Amino acid sequence: MQSATVKLDQPENVPMKGIIGESVQMRKIAEVIDQVAPTDMTVLITGESGVGKEVIAKAIHMSSKRSSRPMITVNSGAIPEGIIESELFGHERGSFTGASDQRKGYFELADGGTLFLDEIGELPLSSQVKFLRVLENGEFLRVGSSVPRHVNVRVIAATNRDLESAMRHGMFRADLFYRLRSFTIVVPPLRERPEDIPFLFRVFAEEVARKNGISYRGISDGAIELLRGYNWPGNVRELRNAAESMIILEKGKYLEADDVRKYLRANTVLPADERNLPVHVSKSVEQAERELILRALLELKGNIMELKAMLDEQRQTLDATRRGGQGPVVLGGPDDSGISLEEMEHRLIADALARSKGNRRMAARALNISERTLYRKIKEYGLE
Ligand SMILES: Nc1ncnc2c1ncn2[C@@H]1O[C@H](COP(=O)(O)OP(=O)(O)OP(=O)(O)O)[C@@H](O)[C@H]1O
Ligand SMILES: [Mg+2]
Repeated sequence: MQSATVKLDQPENVPMKGIIGESVQMRKIAEVIDQVAPTDMTVLITGESGVGKEVIAKAIHMSSKRSSRPMITVNSGAIPEGIIESELFGHERGSFTGASDQRKGYFELADGGTLFLDEIGELPLSSQVKFLRVLENGEFLRVGSSVPRHVNVRVIAATNRDLESAMRHGMFRADLFYRLRSFTIVVPPLRERPEDIPFLFRVFAEEVARKNGISYRGISDGAIELLRGYNWPGNVRELRNAAESMIILEKGKYLEADDVRKYLRANTVLPADERNLPVHVSKSVEQAERELILRALLELKGNIMELKAMLDEQRQTLDATRRGGQGPVVLGGPDDSGISLEEMEHRLIADALARSKGNRRMAARALNISERTLYRKIKEYGLE
């Protein structure tokens, strides 16, 4: 996939707008944002999960002339296929069973602002043609209506899928693909910009410490080196979750390399002198498993807190929108607030079993726990 070609003169002077990053790549992205934000161009943001695509979408919206209007975030992957068109374009009363009222779709709600369509690769083929029509001339039909409507919406789309390959396999329309990719921001994975890691870690660690009333005493150079050498398959999200786990479980103590190592998955890319060291050198298998489960739970909790924060933001901004206010709105996500640790563990295991289609060995591997522990948990939660 190709990114927009932009001339860069003084990347070190670029303001970052909520995007933390000191690497040349992130500074370039900040500059691209400066150039594209004032326009109404459709932007496609690509990159692995957790690299910060949504952070970038927000930065574009907030630097645009639409910033006083809402940015509506829609996750195409989270909306059931059958209702996606009515969600996006709205529907008329009686247009399908259960449509007892007419309803505005997200495009209408975003009128004058920005629509952030996340996971665009998940948009069903049948909806893609209608989506293209809005991109081309701002026109769409509500489900059950033959009267074209117009909106003034700036679209930002994101995906972690390879749209070009989806197109070659007939899963993504070529016309939409070419329309979208005319301005692409490719966000590199964290492992390709290790210079961003120390600053990101510090910001996340201080934030978690502040929120939890912990006093954070800092991190050693050796520990930072370890973080820089890790390959971060979950990218910035994983770094954020790891920072949270470290601050909470280590209770804010000064972090040395040995403390940090425990929070990285086994597939690390370590500096030469650190290689070949087992992750849990002196711990019993049981203890190591308990820590792994706890860490997976904390990671899940981090994601849930993120969702919860997004939902709170959505609620507030929807209220504000009704009163003519501004800011991002998130739609199409599940509500996971008020969940207990036990429930999370239950869900985590049920989810792994579903994904492995009941294959316990695969599920255990995915959860990074032994099959024995998995059997015990399956019994405990009645998942047989
Ligand atoms: N450059 C950054 N500065 C500050 N925080 C960041 C940055 N990049 C990512 N984050 C944080 O990392 C987490 C994941 O970011 P985000 O949701 O934007 O990723 P994404 O690419 O949209 O992931 P996904 O593909 O899974 O939706 C969020 O908590 C976000 O605040
Ligand atoms: Mg995202």
